[in-house]
Amino acid sequence: MFEKEVYIKRRSQLKSEIKSGIALFLGNVDTAFNYPANLYSFRQDSQFLYFFGLKNPGFAGIIDFDNNSEYIFGNDFDIDDVIWMGVQPKVSELAAKVGVHKTGQYKDMIDLILKAKNESRKIDFLPAYRGETIIELSTLLGISINDVKKHASERLIKAVIKIKEIKSEEEIKEIEKAVDIAYEMHTTSMRMATPGRIEQEIAGTIEGISLALGGPVSFPIILSQDGQTLHNHHHDNILEVGRMMVTDAGAETQECYSSDITRTVPVGGKFNKRQAEIYQIVLDANLAAINAVEAGTKFKTIHFIAAKVIIEGLIKLGLMKGDSDKALEAEAHTLFMPHGLGHMMGMDVHDMEGLGENYVGYDEKTERETSFGTAYLRLGKELKSGFVITIEPGIYFIPELIDKFRKENKFNDFINYDKVETYKDFGGIRIEDDVLVTENGFRVLGKPIPKTIEEVEAVMANPL
Ligand code: GLY
Ligand code: MN
Ligand code: MN
Repeated sequence: MFEKEVYIKRRSQLKSEIKSGIALFLGNVDTAFNYPANLYSFRQDSQFLYFFGLKNPGFAGIIDFDNNSEYIFGNDFDIDDVIWMGVQPKVSELAAKVGVHKTGQYKDMIDLILKAKNESRKIDFLPAYRGETIIELSTLLGISINDVKKHASERLIKAVIKIKEIKSEEEIKEIEKAVDIAYEMHTTSMRMATPGRIEQEIAGTIEGISLALGGPVSFPIILSQDGQTLHNHHHDNILEVGRMMVTDAGAETQECYSSDITRTVPVGGKFNKRQAEIYQIVLDANLAAINAVEAGTKFKTIHFIAAKVIIEGLIKLGLMKGDSDKALEAEAHTLFMPHGLGHMMGMDVHDMEGLGENYVGYDEKTERETSFGTAYLRLGKELKSGFVITIEPGIYFIPELIDKFRKENKFNDFINYDKVETYKDFGGIRIEDDVLVTENGFRVLGKPIPKTIEEVEAVMANPL
């Protein structure tokens, strides 16, 4: 964990945003995998972790804004726990490490909440995403399970996002550590992308690198030569020369900060002409978007800068046609990139998405689009110094989407369908980096991971 001053400061920021009532932060509990004693590896709730710093299951934190009091609750280990799991500091000792001095056992939290409820005090809580938490909130607050979601506190959501979206020095260092782990994962993946190998061998190896150097992967690894499927979690293909292999993978650090990096490489280590042409367009879009990152610029604007590069590149190759501005206006690029350019990143790989995508990514000045593809843009609002975001343009040839749009005569003025048909066996390419918005521009975080054609081929010249 960080120094206790970090958590004290975070809670005091929250106290300067909210002046009354009580905020209840339920940490996560252990969850059974396939029978009660066989557990998933524990991951603390990111909001509890941010404000209260402890990675223990079954803990809860409370901030009483009326009385300027902070509490941590959990159960001290009894002798049975000690026998199976070893000795652990008492709740009061753990809480002191994060600057909290009012503590109790879990039942004391229940008593405090019931008393507050009887006194009709306002109890704010954040949206829950696990069944166990929803049930607990329902029981504690006397709300039906189906209504828990709609009772989540908008003012608490907004206050937490306002604080958490600006990353501090120690958080940026953690994210850079996570990218450095991703460097090892991705260069290993590149070197293992040899023909005849099953994807699973690579996915398993790089997941092991994450665990060995930091923590679990920050999301299930996407690794496939069927990169046209955007979130392809199947790893059962045997790699073949002529295919591109997408690896979209990141790590969590011990402090639970993420990386989210994508690289796409030619199986066997050498780009053929067709692969190099499409790859270079995606790389150009990635670089143009990164170079446009600046505090005060809307991320939606940068999304369309990347889209324009893709359109212009595809027109040059004869896959698109017509006027590039008009094609952009029609959003004809969404045939090839039916997703958003990126998202916030932090403790969660899609940072704070559980609090509501639109709260995190949009505001009163920036409305979310509803059109095909662009609707998936999770972040649209103006960037601020201290945001950490991903930049992840891609070009994909999705046979089913090509067939659908062709049949609908969609974008006929901008798409050369006859030529696009010949790319149906291509797969997809995505290139993703993690970028800090600074006062004067941007900084790509972590050790640079090879991404030019020359750099990728150089790494792949040493296969594993
Ligand atoms: N790793 C999923 C994404 O890039 O958003
Ligand atoms: Mn990714
Ligand atoms: Mn991403």
